[in-house]
Amino acid sequence: MIVTGKGGVGKTTVAAAVAQAAVAARRRVLLVEVATPGPLASVLDVPPLAGEPRHVREGLSAVALEESSALEDLVHQMMPLRLLSRRLLSSDTFRIIAAAVPGIIETALLARVIGWLEERDRRGRPLWDLVVLDSPASGHSVPLLATPRTLSGLATVGPLGAIVRKTSCWLSDPARTRALVVAIPEDWAIAEAVELRESLRDGLALPVARPVLNAVFPKRFSRTDETLLEEAEASGSIDPQLLEAGRYFIRRRAVAMEHGRTLRAATRERPLELPFVFSGSMTWEDLAPLAEALDPLLETA
Ligand SMILES: Nc1ncnc2c1ncn2[C@@H]1O[C@H](COP(=O)(O)OP(=O)(O)OP(=O)(O)O)[C@@H](O)[C@H]1O
Ligand SMILES: [Mg+2]
Repeated sequence: MIVTGKGGVGKTTVAAAVAQAAVAARRRVLLVEVATPGPLASVLDVPPLAGEPRHVREGLSAVALEESSALEDLVHQMMPLRLLSRRLLSSDTFRIIAAAVPGIIETALLARVIGWLEERDRRGRPLWDLVVLDSPASGHSVPLLATPRTLSGLATVGPLGAIVRKTSCWLSDPARTRALVVAIPEDWAIAEAVELRESLRDGLALPVARPVLNAVFPKRFSRTDETLLEEAEASGSIDPQLLEAGRYFIRRRAVAMEHGRTLRAATRERPLELPFVFSGSMTWEDLAPLAEALDPLLETA
């Protein structure tokens, strides 16, 4: 499950909530942070994530996907002779060249994720039922996910060709992969989510899940409440600050509903609505209502 969307829309939060929903459904989950160790650890309430999967809580492990260890892995896969691959990796020239070859870092990152997906326990069962990728903001995740397609015409033979083909197969297989595009109720986020979903599905042949509308203000006032509020305003029998707070809540809810309709009309799919969480800092416990709202996603994943 690849969680993506514009910067700041809640990708990390949603990735953690997907993991929580899957753990509750008794799946063994690996949560992957693409980047140097970042905010995922604070949501999980654990020390910064490392380059190797670490057990975090019952059913859940987490890992930071690092460029250097991914590149090492890729070289080892391409050069089975450890002595040669180690020598190559220790050379500064190689690192400079590798960083300059378009797509090589991206291939290395994706190959490492697929390596985790293919890991087996002693009884031959997959180690993880679900790998959730907290991928970078759309501007960076599209080039990352496009790499197997871009390279498939160039790297056709040899070990690199095989790795690129395998990555392509994983990414385009609806039985194994889903891209989850997250938006919030803001014009720019909705427009970006619609565009991103189209470019992932139509441009990259990536299977996409229902869109996610995050941080939706809950319905707190009924129609009757709204009328009472208006009457109280007319008669001046309400504290102006309370009136403003009530109006703000109603407005935010109405705007979110409107954005939900726009997203639905543009994608022809009913968005999964995740509630706004009123909490100073998002904790694992705070994610529960989000995980619950994401549950339908797991039935089809
Ligand atoms: N449903 C929600 N309710 C309230 N706050 C939320 C919700 N989802 C996310 N947030 C908050 O919004 C902020 C951004 O969320 P998050 O870090 O998950 O976004 P992101 O898309 O991963 O950002 P980046 O692009 O920087 O990686 C955080 O402070 C997070 O706690
Ligand atoms: Mg993030």
